[in-house]
Amino acid sequence: MAILITGGAGFIGSHFVRRMVKHSHVVVLDKLTYAGNLENLRDIREDRELSGYFKFYKGDICNQELVDHVMSTEKIDVIVNFAAETHVDRSILSAGTFIDTDIKGVFVLLEASRRYTIKKFIQISTDEVYGTAFHDAFKETDSLNPSNPYAASKAGGDRLAFAYWNTYKLPIIITRASNNYGPYQHPEKFIPLFITNAIEGLKLPLYGDGRQERDWIHVEDHCAAIDFIIENGKEGEVYNIGGGNEKQNIDTALFILSVLAKDKGMIESVKDREGHDRRYALDCTKLKSLGWKPQIDFEEGLRDTIKWYEENEQWWKQIKNGEFMKYYEIQYNHRFAGKN
Ligand code: NAD
Ligand code: TYD
Repeated sequence: MAILITGGAGFIGSHFVRRMVKHSHVVVLDKLTYAGNLENLRDIREDRELSGYFKFYKGDICNQELVDHVMSTEKIDVIVNFAAETHVDRSILSAGTFIDTDIKGVFVLLEASRRYTIKKFIQISTDEVYGTAFHDAFKETDSLNPSNPYAASKAGGDRLAFAYWNTYKLPIIITRASNNYGPYQHPEKFIPLFITNAIEGLKLPLYGDGRQERDWIHVEDHCAAIDFIIENGKEGEVYNIGGGNEKQNIDTALFILSVLAKDKGMIESVKDREGHDRRYALDCTKLKSLGWKPQIDFEEGLRDTIKWYEENEQWWKQIKNGEFMKYYEIQYNHRFAGKN
């Protein structure tokens, strides 16, 4: 099987590549934006045996010519589209690239899938398309209410993919996962930012009252679910993928500090995110009834993740010392100044 993994140099994509390359011919198409990092795939590229089953194309999923070239050259059977602009706070600063990649990019991949025969197309969507869970955890049939530019653009890609199943009968499946954590996550995101700031002795900027809730899933559990869905999922369907670990941000921050034996005074309550979704929660009965369930305990997974960041300082310091410093200033200086 030849599988095209777009965004395969990012956080989740690189874990998925590592999993699939053991039994499939893996082709990665990645633009290598600030979030893409070939270091995430170094072990595979340097493994004599595995590298034979792996091919990398640097490029944009919005580039129709390039996508056509990859599809025809590599004779792709399955597409898993991870490529996206993914950080909510960046989408609030500037939404343009989110519209391009998360909507137009999906369109280009879907159109290419009409021209070349594919067996499956997995569109990686997100729980954020549902908006805040005020009451029960969301089921796949609940209406979408995306509330920030990232979530809205992902909802666009999600529904466009569905439309191509409904209209053209392309073999499409849509997944909506909850918040991922694990090794190789870019330090702009909450968990790695808090781990690395704590290691560096910097303040941990907790938005608002810190009582917002997120359902955390280990990235390996998420990748196992996608693999399972390729085999067992039904075309035209949506599957929620949650870890079943609903935590308030303040509690996650305190846990990180306790594992690192750091003072809880490092947490600083800062100006809240604009339009901040209060709670994400998923009902995963549909996927569980097919036989999947998450395996990794949250505290154990988070301890291992913290250890990984302790042991891989070079990986994240390279990121934090680059473009990120400027971003951090723009994103956080005013937050620290305008405390709650
Ligand atoms: P990430 O930001 O770590 O990686 C995104 C990757 O996509 C990068 O390698 C980047 O270079 C690449 N990319 C961006 N624009 C591109 C373009 N136009 N063409 C080709 N490549 C491009 O993201 P992630 O956290 O690994 O998320 C992967 C997917 O999973 C995304 O679709 C995201 O919406 C979804 N998702 C993420 C989470 C989470 O908690 N991280 C939860 C649910 C769903
Ligand atoms: P994030 O990792 O950006 O994921 P998402 O917003 O997509 O769920 O943030 C997770 C939670 O952590 C969210 O409620 C916002 C909060 N947060 C902070 O409190 N401080 C921060 O510096 C960041 C990046 C996030």
